Amino acid sequence: MSDTGRFDQAAKDWDLEDRRVILARAVAAAIRARVPISNDDSVLDFGCGTGLLTLELAPLAGSITGADTSPGMLEALAAKAPVARILLDPGKDPDLGGPHSLIVSSMTLHHIPDVPGLFRAFARHLRPGGRVALADLDTEDGSFHTDAQGVHHQGFAREQVIAWLREAGFGDARAETACTTRKEGRDYSIFLALGTKD
Ligand SMILES: C[S@@+](CC[C@H](N)C(=O)[O-])C[C@H]1O[C@@H](n2cnc3c(N)ncnc32)[C@H](O)[C@@H]1O
Repeated sequence: MSDTGRFDQAAKDWDLEDRRVILARAVAAAIRARVPISNDDSVLDFGCGTGLLTLELAPLAGSITGADTSPGMLEALAAKAPVARILLDPGKDPDLGGPHSLIVSSMTLHHIPDVPGLFRAFARHLRPGGRVALADLDTEDGSFHTDAQGVHHQGFAREQVIAWLREAGFGDARAETACTTRKEGRDYSIFLALGTKD
């Protein structure tokens, strides 16, 4: 089955796993604590899934759009709230609309083969001075996913993410600990990478 098909299948029961809901809330809190969001902001949630992070931030923003390659995930989001959605083609450079003032993402970067290319796409879809706030796993030993299909990175070294962001035009890129997530008795550290488009 394709990676997209697997997420389509998972969409119906995605929110039933408390760990995912708790993680999205913790990431949203980490973003809110570091990035002011107002009703002047156009926010894009990249790899939004069922919108767990999208809907946490929606009340703060002027507009919010969820983008994902999985039609099933976007349908699950649409069933919860009438937010704007973009269905992405997994084989193409992402057309993220905009320009946006903030791009957020949670737990999607490790599914992306070409993360430096994605960061360049983020820069193209942001207004001057636009920001990114991107959460994902710190480097892990591969135990986070029981099935590694579609997993292109076993977490990330923060220095690598920062370097890729700087190369893409986010000169002030930095990364901090957002939270931890507990899965099958193990704790995994989650970073939040932040940057402003030069
Ligand atoms: C682990 S889920 C995270 C979903 C959501 N952000 C959350 O925290 O619940 C990863 C999401 O990334 C999406 N995804 C995978 N590859 C993608 C790509 N190339 N572009 C955009 N989204 C992608 C999947 O369909 C899935 O919804």
